[in-house]
Amino acid sequence: MNERDSEIMAQLLGEAGYIESLEIDDADLIILNTCSIRAKAEQKVMSLLGHLRKNLKKRPGLQICVAGCVAQQEGYDIIRKMPHVTLVIGTQNIYDLVFALKHAQTNGPRVLTSLEKRYQIPRFLPNFNGKKALYPAPFRKFLTIMQGCDNYCSYCVVPYTRGREVSRQAKDIVDEARVLVQNGVKEITLLGQNVNSYGQTNIVTAHSQKGEYGFAQLLHEVAKLAEEGLQRLRFTTSNPKDLTDELIACFAEIDILCSQLHLPLQAGSDHILRRMNRKYSIEGYLALVDKLHKVCPSIALTTDIIVGFPGETDEDFEATMAILNTVRYHGSFSFKYSPRPGTRAAKFSDAVPEEIKSARLARFQKRQDEISLERNSEYIGTVQNIMLEPDSGSTQITRGRTETNHIVHLHQAVKGAAGEILPAKIVHAGQHSLQGRVL
Ligand code: 5AD
Ligand code: SF4
Repeated sequence: MNERDSEIMAQLLGEAGYIESLEIDDADLIILNTCSIRAKAEQKVMSLLGHLRKNLKKRPGLQICVAGCVAQQEGYDIIRKMPHVTLVIGTQNIYDLVFALKHAQTNGPRVLTSLEKRYQIPRFLPNFNGKKALYPAPFRKFLTIMQGCDNYCSYCVVPYTRGREVSRQAKDIVDEARVLVQNGVKEITLLGQNVNSYGQTNIVTAHSQKGEYGFAQLLHEVAKLAEEGLQRLRFTTSNPKDLTDELIACFAEIDILCSQLHLPLQAGSDHILRRMNRKYSIEGYLALVDKLHKVCPSIALTTDIIVGFPGETDEDFEATMAILNTVRYHGSFSFKYSPRPGTRAAKFSDAVPEEIKSARLARFQKRQDEISLERNSEYIGTVQNIMLEPDSGSTQITRGRTETNHIVHLHQAVKGAAGEILPAKIVHAGQHSLQGRVL
């Protein structure tokens, strides 16, 4: 979500005449687009802001701006702690970035963090017009389909930093996707805090009532762009409580929908899931996993896990390990629980000691690494279609990505363009990637 927001800000700045500086020391404007999902992310922002004081000394006209969820949450407190910050801009205000920067330049530090209930993401088409686009047209793009979240998982700050759930108009989404495809984009990832509930809180088409047009329909609609050159479609993130049979069926019905799903579990015991306000049971979750495997046997599942949520007993944690061993996720993101201001769980009194959280996290991650290696080894000897992508910091292409979202490192550089799909034989598996040879 932040990556897409950064792109939007870059495009707005490009259209206003800014150009990207290669070195941070040469910049007249520095924007930190921030995350506050866990305390660690937030601490990083504060320490980086501290360091940037020296840039201001070297370049007196420098504007330093904080955007994203930390900006939304902390507002004026950021300027109180870091008076060299010139603009604090919230999650729904980035479209006013250029105006706000100008205003701050003439009138002094500014805080713009209004969070509206009925906020609609403005129609905003990507601009691939040569120099104006700070981010060159790549072959793979994110497309935001909704804003905010109404789920209020008890640990999560997102409903407070990104506001109420509002879905974009289906037509705007399809138009934006079409512009991407017409400009050479081969893979689109539809983005939302909980894409499964797309269209449930507001009307998204001219001809349907609230709740009538859902995410599965949107997927089918966007997938029609396959005829115009779209090769791969993905989406993230899914809350299991809203993963419908209709949506699961899409994995069989839509050719370009990749066989991969990120399905956050968070915890393996019903007792903790209830306290997290997740609104599904372990039994229900495992039934979804079964259905997904039936509909799409090659599907690669990944997940998010929080360890050490308040009240998590040894038994609860063992239940999480048991699910890991049952589902055998291809990969996962796992975190120690971090209390966030304003959330319900922050008031729970039965915190798990830090050293227990660390030990549980280490155990979970060690087992996940073993399972990832086993899962990845299953691909050895198979042929996978890989979408070529440039290596970071180079123009050579020595890797690609499978439909299941595994990186495949190639033994030699290949002739081909980023975004092109080629078959590759998998010859070796590591914990985090595969190795292969283009056929
Ligand atoms: N503490 C730890 N992890 C969290 N996440 C969200 N809020 C917290 C928190 N307070 C994790 C969840 C979510 C992922 C994006 O971040 O696992 O799925
Ligand atoms: Fe946070 Fe839950 Fe919403 Fe995900 S579904 S953004 S974890 S409140």
